[in-house]
Amino acid sequence: MAKDAVSLVDQRTQAAREIPIQDGAIRAMDLRQFKTGPDDFGLMTYDPAFMNTASCRSAITFIDGDKGILRYRGYPIEQLAEKCTFLEVAYLILFGELPAAPQLKDWIAEITLHTMLHETTKKFLEGFRYDAHPMGMLASTVAALSTVYPESRHVLDPTVRALQIKRLIGKMPTIAAYTYRHSLGYPYVYPDNDLSYAANFMNMLWKMMEPKYQANPTLARALDILFILHADHEQNCSTNAMRAVGSSQADPFLSTAAACAALSGPLHGGANEEVLKMLDVIGSKDRIPAYIDKVKAGEFKLMGFGHRVYKNYDPRARIIKWAADSVFEITGRNAKLDIALELERIALEDEYFVKRKLYPNVDFYSGIIYQAMGFKPEMFTVLFAIPRTVGWLAQWQEMLCDGEQKIARPRQIYTGEAARDVVPMEQRGVATTPATA
Ligand code: CMC
Repeated sequence: MAKDAVSLVDQRTQAAREIPIQDGAIRAMDLRQFKTGPDDFGLMTYDPAFMNTASCRSAITFIDGDKGILRYRGYPIEQLAEKCTFLEVAYLILFGELPAAPQLKDWIAEITLHTMLHETTKKFLEGFRYDAHPMGMLASTVAALSTVYPESRHVLDPTVRALQIKRLIGKMPTIAAYTYRHSLGYPYVYPDNDLSYAANFMNMLWKMMEPKYQANPTLARALDILFILHADHEQNCSTNAMRAVGSSQADPFLSTAAACAALSGPLHGGANEEVLKMLDVIGSKDRIPAYIDKVKAGEFKLMGFGHRVYKNYDPRARIIKWAADSVFEITGRNAKLDIALELERIALEDEYFVKRKLYPNVDFYSGIIYQAMGFKPEMFTVLFAIPRTVGWLAQWQEMLCDGEQKIARPRQIYTGEAARDVVPMEQRGVATTPATA
């Protein structure tokens, strides 16, 4: 009968060992027993960018990249996007089950209780320059909340953790909206706790002199769906940052700020902003083939295309395309959509993209909808960060409660100089390597 093990022979020593396989993985620590002698540290694995390394066990999100499947706690993303609200999904991601009606009512009330920012935090925001990027403002302001809630550092106390989780989910839209109002020089709008999570966010962004902000229900629902699609995505770059920083038992505000920083990069959450810039550069459909030629020549990447895990289709991109229709019925069609659709069509027929299994990802169409709704491209990644905070916090909590986890501390393969002695200044030659290397 087949055994769940792999037999390895170390050709350096002829030592043969059986390494158990569990859940399709071997433990990297089991390789340590392969040594060439007592002074040998033991065999390591080398895996830059974690291409083939599971860093944790997680029960939150399941992705099958070849089949284009995404599930939160077992529920397909398509069903959640169609049948649930964002706060319902947030509850599911954090607690493992969908809430019953009374639980959801309490949960909404608890999050709503935490939507306001301390007045000193508003003053902190005022210190940013008028043209500061909203992601820089968001990450810094989230970090600053660590100083407002010093008790949050007691990360091993479940009651303390639960409070910070509600605070962060409640306050992210408020901070996000304030970064936007700050960039326009508009006064901040206080949260309106009568409104839904998405509608209140729209209120804080766009309310002017009217006594009560009325969110368009179709646009509020579309935003809610986009929040659901972005809520978690297993061990992506920013979640990995959240877990790594959180593993040192840093408080959740500082850990979330680190996750925001990781999200801001153009290869991760910053891609949605880059897609819009790219569509602007392309400008018209007839210029797409020349642009694609440059991508294939390696001059730059096609933003919003490709994914480390999805090698078939990003299921979120499909739902976004569908949500776009409802938005465009209200806002009118975004002219960039035609360029994007044509770009997708041409790319999907091109051998370069087919061979490398490069498909549109979540960021390819989200920016087009956001722009149609009235958001500036600089705000797109902030819109990603609001719902992803739920995933970050769920993964952070899971990490802290996992007895197998410790402070994240990878090994390295040292490639520098062997030991050498410091030479007195007068005997040193001019360095051949640049001082900034
Ligand atoms: N345009 C052109 N070529 C690409 C692209 C692209 N967007 N993405 C990957 N490739 C090529 C890459 O050059 C490589 O080619 P070769 O084998 O000839 O060297 C091959 O495809 C494999 O790519 P990779 O860089 O090894 O793939 P990765 O898993 O390390 O990177 C990625 C994944 C998402 C960072 C990358 O596809 C990319 O940079 N895409 C553009 C940025 C983007 O849209 N990011 C959003 C990702 S989804 C949401 C999120 O995570 O926030």
